[in-house]
Amino acid sequence: MAAPEIRRVGVVGLGAMGAGIAQLAIQAGYETVGREVTDELGTKAHDRIAHFLQRKVDKEQMTAAERNSALGSLALTTDLADLANCDLVIEAIVEDLGPKLALFAELERIVRPDAILATNTSALSVTEIAAATSTAERIVGMHFFNPAPLMPLVEIVRAELSSDDATDAAFAVGERMGKSPIRCHDTPGFVVNRVLIPLLNDCLRVLDEARVSPVDLDTAMTAGAGWPMGPCTLVDLVGIDVHVHASEALYEKLREPRMAPPPRIVAMKNAGLLGRKSGRGFYAYD
Ligand code: 3HC
Repeated sequence: MAAPEIRRVGVVGLGAMGAGIAQLAIQAGYETVGREVTDELGTKAHDRIAHFLQRKVDKEQMTAAERNSALGSLALTTDLADLANCDLVIEAIVEDLGPKLALFAELERIVRPDAILATNTSALSVTEIAAATSTAERIVGMHFFNPAPLMPLVEIVRAELSSDDATDAAFAVGERMGKSPIRCHDTPGFVVNRVLIPLLNDCLRVLDEARVSPVDLDTAMTAGAGWPMGPCTLVDLVGIDVHVHASEALYEKLREPRMAPPPRIVAMKNAGLLGRKSGRGFYAYD
């Protein structure tokens, strides 16, 4: 089945990642439908996107007319049925297999048979998600990096049954969003997280081993290894819950000790210290 020309993009879940993906979609000129579970969460995402587009206008990277046109192409809904006319739907909901399986099974009933369904999962198996549907050939991974509007990479993940048309179409959307897409297969952690998750876990273990403070560890890795931000700042940005979940998922699949989340960060997660999103992680945020 040939992939459709992508004109209308749906984004399900408008948290930090989903809102960033929706921002990229409207900046790229796609009619975009964003779905959240409540109007309040939808409005919060809209305000976030409007804020970042306004910053672009302030910095003369975008005209006010371009911002208005981009925001005008974003429709918000709480009803999944409003995604019926989308040519591509990108899922960015909670990183739990159960809700994702239920969502894909429902999306399959709603969208046209030739529409492409993509998951932004960071550590779950795209093949397992696709198995919730009877049209696995149109399911691919589109793994964006946090913050999605700024990070140039998107991993286009080919699951066991993904078609060439679906992966090519997702790749082309990544390019039109101004990204540097890469193609990879559906293996645990894909490319970046397979390397980055154990590396960050090593960094977090060093906190206790070397009895170094988060600030000094961050300085060590920015000033000594050229990282754009230190590991504690990065884990706070990604979300401590997201990092723990990704570590556990990779450890479960690969059984490499370095993949397992260090106890210190699991304790932070259990205490509700989730990083930027909760106002406190390694650092405190306003
Ligand atoms: N969304 C949209 N726009 C944003 C944004 C966001 N979340 N955050 C910032 N911006 C915009 C702002 O308008 C900002 O300008 P302003 O401050 O004048 O308003 C503009 O972008 C530039 O922001 P910064 O000055 O903060 O940009 P920097 O040049 O400092 O770079 C960075 C920021 C790109 C985040 C850089 O620090 C970096 O590369 N950090 C590493 C991030 C990284 O490694 N991410 C990957 C995480 S792993 C992952 O995501 C995988 C997942 O599966 C877990």
